[in-house]
Amino acid sequence: MAGASVIEEQMRVATDPAIPAIEFDQLTKRFGEHAAVDNMTFTVPRGSIFGFLGPNGAGKTTTIGMAVGLIPPTAGTARVLGFDVATQLPEVLRHVGAMVERPAFYPFLSGRMNLQIFAKQAGLDDKVRVDEVIEMVGMSERADAKFGGYSTGMKQRIGIASALLDDPDVTILDEPTSGLDPAGQREIRALVRRLADAGHTVFLSSHILGEIQDVCTHVAIINRGKLVATGQMHEILETSNELVIDVDRPEEARSELTQMVAADDVHLENGRLIVQTPLEQAAEINMRLVQAGFAVSQLRHREKDLEDRFLELTEQHTRSELNNG
Ligand SMILES: Nc1ncnc2c1ncn2[C@@H]1O[C@H](COP(=O)(O)OP(=O)(O)O)[C@@H](O)[C@H]1O
Ligand SMILES: [Mg+2]
Repeated sequence: MAGASVIEEQMRVATDPAIPAIEFDQLTKRFGEHAAVDNMTFTVPRGSIFGFLGPNGAGKTTTIGMAVGLIPPTAGTARVLGFDVATQLPEVLRHVGAMVERPAFYPFLSGRMNLQIFAKQAGLDDKVRVDEVIEMVGMSERADAKFGGYSTGMKQRIGIASALLDDPDVTILDEPTSGLDPAGQREIRALVRRLADAGHTVFLSSHILGEIQDVCTHVAIINRGKLVATGQMHEILETSNELVIDVDRPEEARSELTQMVAADDVHLENGRLIVQTPLEQAAEINMRLVQAGFAVSQLRHREKDLEDRFLELTEQHTRSELNNG
């Protein structure tokens, strides 16, 4: 039967691990002359927690809008689980749960009632599922209070709950932690991890980097509508050419090392030795210190944190854009 084969085909696509969760291919959105999203190409792997980072105005919401069919692209394509958003939107929506901007809720109804209305509109008349998503976002105790009386964080959590109603394979959250205090942000991170542990792909945008650093497996950094960098988080947090060494008698150890590397390349920082050196030299440095009778308790590469890396990349990018006119 033709109908059955269409469903089989969709099931195959939805469960084939080789098909990425999201693919953006030369995606472009112009508002008049201004390219809000400019020739954006990158892939969101299945099962990843993918951080979509960029300063305000970089084009995050516009990109997400194109991924979920809210904004028609000027050029290029967005695919979700292999389905073309432009031509297969119903299939896309069957697999995606999204929170883009803040959804409209009735202030005079409870969080629970609002979610039940959402569920009904989506054809999911299932009170058990509403209770589940309320539990997932940690709103069980306040679910029956009026939405209008909630804090920003609680409103945000009800928004996220609405995105999870259909148990989506791919969850897209636009700035899910905006307006949350650190405790609320932590809760959202824990929620994102639980979703990923359950096999979901989570794509979330943010302009705040620290919070993305611990939770995301992959990242794309954008600036002025353009992709600046993308890859696994650890690739982006590229190790610098710096060794951090914990050693007894650090001052003497410093002198010892100046016989091996230039004096300018080794200094003390908070009682630790910092050595500028090609990373291949680490073993040699360790051996030299140990042979000279020092107790080396730790020797590691200094990782730049994402905040620094992000600023570095976006500033470089902005400079080169300005130089090119
Ligand atoms: N509907 C629109 N009309 C005109 N310009 C828009 C529209 N939506 C967004 N923009 C512009 O596109 C750029 C990217 O916006 P947006 O995607 O909202 O960025 P972000 O979500 O990263 O803060 C901004 O310069 C913004 O002013
Ligand atoms: Mg935005």
